[in-house]
Amino acid sequence: MTGTSDALFEYIAAELAKFVAQEGPEYKLPPGRQRELGFTFSFPVMQTSITSGTLLRWTKGFSIDDVVGQDVVAQLSKAMQKLGLDMCVSALVNDTVGTLAGGRYNNNDVVAAVILGTGSNAAYVERAQAIPKWHGPSKSGDMVINMEWGNFRSSHLPLTDYDHAMDAEGLNPGDQIYEKMISGMYLGEIIRRVLLRMAEETAIFGDTVPPKLKEPFVLRTPDTSAMHHDASSDLKVVDNKLKEVLEISNTSLRVRKIIVELCNIVATRGARLAAAGILGILKKMGRDTLKDGDQQKTVIAMDGGLYEHYTGFSKCLENTLEELLGEDVFKSIVIEHANDGSGIGAALLAASHSKYLEDQS
Ligand code: GLC
Repeated sequence: MTGTSDALFEYIAAELAKFVAQEGPEYKLPPGRQRELGFTFSFPVMQTSITSGTLLRWTKGFSIDDVVGQDVVAQLSKAMQKLGLDMCVSALVNDTVGTLAGGRYNNNDVVAAVILGTGSNAAYVERAQAIPKWHGPSKSGDMVINMEWGNFRSSHLPLTDYDHAMDAEGLNPGDQIYEKMISGMYLGEIIRRVLLRMAEETAIFGDTVPPKLKEPFVLRTPDTSAMHHDASSDLKVVDNKLKEVLEISNTSLRVRKIIVELCNIVATRGARLAAAGILGILKKMGRDTLKDGDQQKTVIAMDGGLYEHYTGFSKCLENTLEELLGEDVFKSIVIEHANDGSGIGAALLAASHSKYLEDQS
């Protein structure tokens, strides 16, 4: 996540080479035919064509300065060439766009994709005419928008002291404010910051502040999710996590209950805000109301570990969406979980933009 551009892309190329080496004989290509690749790159890119785009800025804790402003396809191609890997990129795809493509391939009612994982973002299908900055052609009349919604911020989005401090002390201050309130990379860290303040201002963990609690990002969202879901009467999971992760022992049941409630508060805020983002897309597409006799389904392809594994979070998101839309409209909305939808979607896009097939026709 830190280092040089060459190190990053040569690592990816080396992993690809290992994958190709493991393939069975049924995948051997005829001589002269190159392997083609769908490249899912889950960061903000200024996309200049289906096979080129420059990195605008890193997000999610990555920090490799010399890639910013570079064409990531050219960088990967250079690394593949250096390793003697005979392969080319046929489609550069953001993970939201890959998820949308993969979802749509399986189900024609898919109109948007949302990622709730380490980071968060969404993509949807827009009428090309409704995009003021697009002057080029569009065969179908439609265009996919990668929203980069993680970078949303607004004076109407109230931030706490913990949000401000986490943002200011992080790698990308001022950026990705919405993502920092809702996604997997940050929920655990917000909770750690609240716990640290509680430990400093009260004697919740005894007379001294546990040193581990001062380590940024030591408490990960899978840990807080496990604590939040602890169904045991004595909150054994909370007890174990506190010991294992934060080296805090001998907590009372009362303190452990407070911790579960804290996890609930932070996850609920994130899930409700994520639901608000989805409602925004539905409104933009005119899918937040039912037209007369309308049986149309609106399917949202969803990917990411946060949504998949943190059921307290995903349930709250769905309940909020129902609350916002009303029962009847909510019935027309389907959130479809697409496991590695982004990788599969990128492969499908690469296949449909295959250079080899283009040369044949
Ligand atoms: C971050 C990236 C975005 C990506 C999202 C989900 O927000 O900037 O491009 O789609 O994470 O992985």
